[in-house]
Amino acid sequence: MADDKIDKIIVLDFGSQYSHLICRRIREMNVYCELLPYNTPAKVINDIKPKGIIFSGGPASIYSSDSPIPDGQIFGLGVPILGICYGHQLIVDKFGGKVKRASYREYGSAELFIDDTSDLFDKVGSKIRCWMSHADAAEVLPEGFRTLAHTQNSPSAAVVKTGMNIYGIQFHPEVVHTENGLEILKNFSHKISKARPDWRMECFVEEAIHNIRLKVRNERVLCAVSGGIDSTTVAILLHKAIGSNLSCVFVNHGLLREDEQHQVPKLFKDHFDIDVIYVDAEEVFLTNLKGVSDPEMKRKIIGSEFANSFLKVALKNGPFQWLAQGTLYPDIIESGVSKGPASVIKTHHNVGGLPKDLNFKIIEPLRNLYKDEVRIVAKLLGVPAVLLNRHPFPGPGLAVRIIGEITPKKLKIAKHASRIVEQELLRVGLYDNVWQAYAAVGDDRAVGVLGDERMYGHIVIIRVVDSTDAMTANWTRLPHDLLTDISNRITNEVEGVSWVTYAVSSKPPATIEPQ
Ligand code: XMP
Repeated sequence: MADDKIDKIIVLDFGSQYSHLICRRIREMNVYCELLPYNTPAKVINDIKPKGIIFSGGPASIYSSDSPIPDGQIFGLGVPILGICYGHQLIVDKFGGKVKRASYREYGSAELFIDDTSDLFDKVGSKIRCWMSHADAAEVLPEGFRTLAHTQNSPSAAVVKTGMNIYGIQFHPEVVHTENGLEILKNFSHKISKARPDWRMECFVEEAIHNIRLKVRNERVLCAVSGGIDSTTVAILLHKAIGSNLSCVFVNHGLLREDEQHQVPKLFKDHFDIDVIYVDAEEVFLTNLKGVSDPEMKRKIIGSEFANSFLKVALKNGPFQWLAQGTLYPDIIESGVSKGPASVIKTHHNVGGLPKDLNFKIIEPLRNLYKDEVRIVAKLLGVPAVLLNRHPFPGPGLAVRIIGEITPKKLKIAKHASRIVEQELLRVGLYDNVWQAYAAVGDDRAVGVLGDERMYGHIVIIRVVDSTDAMTANWTRLPHDLLTDISNRITNEVEGVSWVTYAVSSKPPATIEPQ
C-alpha cells in the first residue's frame, strides 16, 4: 500500500491453502491486508508499518529439518502477532514450549471450549465449533503463556503470551466451518492490533492506478483482453492509469463462445472508447492442437500460441515493454506459483503456460483478488451489467471443455450446446444464480434413435456449478423440468448428439472444467 494513512495487517504465508483467505477475510472487515512470504525480512515488514501480523498455517512440522521459520526479529517489532495452526506451533516452539505429534490427527470439525471469553474471544461465546487440520499440537506451554481455549484433544488450542500481544490458535478461524471465526479475526485486527476499518474497494482502485503508474512510468503496455471481467477490469485500470500508452489485443483462438469474437472488440469501442487490435488466429491454434488430447499439453500449446500472437502484435504495433494480464489469486494458487509452498492442480494458461523467454515484463493488477472482489472493482469502474454478470470463461476456452482431441465437429457441438444451456438458464431466470454453466463434449458416443433411424451420436455433459470463488464448487441442483428442456433442445437442435448427461461431481474432488 502506498497510502500510509491506511492501517494494514500482514499475513506471512507458511504454505496453507487458506493463507490468502485470511487476507480476504480481513479485507472484508475493511482493513487492508496483504500476503507476504514467510521469510520476509523483519526490516521490510517494519517499513510497511503493519498494525498486526498473522502467521498462516502450513503443511510442515515444526520439528522437520526444513520447516519454514520467519525472521526472529519480527517478535521484537512490538506488533501484535496471531499464529494459526502451524503458526501457533511455531510460536509455542519459539518461546521454549513443546510441540509434539498428537496421539491422533485432528481433522475437521471440533468443539472448542473457551476458557477466557475476553480479548481474542470477546463476543465469541463459551463453546463453538471450530475447524481443525493438524497432526502436531502444543504439549507444554512456554513460560509466560496461558491457555485461552481447549478442545478434547488439544489442551492448549488457543494461547497468549501475557503482556506481549502474541497469540496462537490451533484451529482455522478464516474458514466458514469455524463458528464466529470472523469475530476472532476481528478481535485480533480491530481490538488487539487497533487497525482502523477504513479500507474500501475504492481504495483498491486508486491504489492499483497509482501502482501501475509507478511501475510502468512512460513505457508501453500490451493488454490481452478476452471479454471476460478480469481482463476487462485490468484494461480499464490501465487505460485510466496510462491512457494511450496502453494497447489492447484480442486473440480469436477459435475456441470462444458463439459470436464472442465480434462482441468483444465492439464492446470495448462502444463502452470504454478503447480500440482493440483484433488477431484472427483461429486456424493456427486449431492446427497446432490437431491430434492433441492431453489436457496439460493443450494448455501449454495454447499458452505458447498466445505468446506468439502477442509477439507478432508487438513487432507490428510495438515496442511494448509490458504485458498485462487478468490473473487472479485462485489462478496463482492452483498453478502452484503462490508465494508459499502449495501443489499444482492445473497450469492456468495466464500463469504458468507462457514461455519464460518472452521479453515482456508482466503486470497483473488483480493478482491478489478473488473473482467476487473483481466484480466489485469492475462495477466501480462502470463495467456494464451484461458483462458483469457473464459467467467466467477460461482463457484456453472450449479447449478445456472438449475432452480428447479438438475436432471441428466437437467444437461445433460444444459451442451450440453451451449456447442452449445459457439460453435456458436465462429463460427461467437462473443464469445469475449459478457460477458457471456450459456443455462439454468428449469422444464417448451412445446409441439413439432419430425418427426411425439408429444414430450413434456424441454424449454431451452439462455442467452447472455454484461457487463463490472457484476454489470449491457444488454442482447445482437444477429443476428436473429444466434439465429435461435443456436435454430435449440439445438432442433436437445440435447435430450429432444422441445423449445428454448432467455432471454431479463437486469440487473437490472434481474441478469445474473437465480438462
Ligand atoms: P477448475 O477447472 O480449475 O477452474 O476448477 C476454476 C476456475 O478457473 C477457470 N479456469 C481458467 N481460467 N485460464 C483461466 O483464465 C485457465 O487456464 C483456466 N482453467 C480453468 C474455470 O473456468 C473456473 O472458473
